[in-house]
Amino acid sequence: MSVNVLFAGRDALWPEYEPALKAAFAKAGLVVDLRREFSPSKVDYIIYAPSGKLRDLTPFTRCKAVLGLWAGVESIITNPTLTQPYTRMVDAGLTEGMVEWVTGHVLRYHLDMDRDIFREDREWQVHIPPLARHRSVGILGLGALGSACAQALSALNFDVHGWSRSAKSLPGVCCHYSPAGLRDVLAQSEILVLLLPNTSATENTLNAETLALLPKGARILNPGRGALIEDAALLAALDAGQVGHATLDVFRVEPLPQDHPYWAHPDVTVTPHIASETRPVTASDVIAENIRRSEAGEPLLHQVDKARGY
Ligand SMILES: NC(=O)c1ccc[n+]([C@@H]2O[C@H](COP(=O)([O-])OP(=O)(O)OC[C@H]3O[C@@H](n4cnc5c(N)ncnc54)[C@H](OP(=O)(O)O)[C@@H]3O)[C@@H](O)[C@H]2O)c1
Repeated sequence: MSVNVLFAGRDALWPEYEPALKAAFAKAGLVVDLRREFSPSKVDYIIYAPSGKLRDLTPFTRCKAVLGLWAGVESIITNPTLTQPYTRMVDAGLTEGMVEWVTGHVLRYHLDMDRDIFREDREWQVHIPPLARHRSVGILGLGALGSACAQALSALNFDVHGWSRSAKSLPGVCCHYSPAGLRDVLAQSEILVLLLPNTSATENTLNAETLALLPKGARILNPGRGALIEDAALLAALDAGQVGHATLDVFRVEPLPQDHPYWAHPDVTVTPHIASETRPVTASDVIAENIRRSEAGEPLLHQVDKARGY
């Protein structure tokens, strides 16, 4: 039987997604009518991205699931017209990209690369960084992305500590949970990586009180979500030297406004929400597998718990 699938990502994504989705549907043995426009009452599944135009899901009365292309879910699951199950994107390509971004920026800090890259004098100043085994890295959030980053850093011998909502066990990673666990992780994070979702419980996880728990001069990477950090508190901690440097990929308002103090701060690197991107070929396999599962009456992969917020 054929199913009708509406692609509701932004127009620029279509040329790459159309062939990738069609190939994935064929591989999964699905007969799909895939279009960018449908009469809403005929749609069985919606492929969704917050960057697309679709906001009101009310007319999609026969839709069995909304299949997200993004890992982040805060904007869609708070949409009151979303009554269908929602799946978020967990994609091998997205995970691999995040591992590369996090590892690259952790190594920048660990090896103190800026010292040589930005040297303007001609002085032969030798500095030997410690080995990774003597550098502690904290990762807040041990989900699809945080756990992959934690394990990649552990494979490089970093002393990795992670924090999640529930207790976890990951080889080579010292796992913590609970408010006391957060304090333990912060107290030993020379480099701290934020990979938590944006929920009411995680907003301002880094604030004046928690930033003060970090070792003096700690470095921060935020590829998670802007709202995890109380911006004024981070700026004050940077000015006081409590935080040595921050690399921020995500912000409360994106694009980051031109006059935001992060742009001009000498101890902040801004990257424009590029830490990782969903990859059409691998993501299309996930979408196809979820349609196959739904049609077969099997549980969906990566279904978001709307009450929990992620
Ligand atoms: N910058 C980019 O380009 C980019 C790209 C992709 C994703 N992201 C962002 O990366 C973040 C992580 O994505 P993901 O796919 O790894 O998410 P995920 O699989 O849902 O994992 C979330 C992790 O955070 C933990 N967590 C949630 N609420 C918590 C709380 N209140 N206290 C302590 N821990 C909590 C969860 O704990 P449990 O394990 O106990 O549930 C889990 O370990 C998201 O915010 C996403 O939007 C950014």
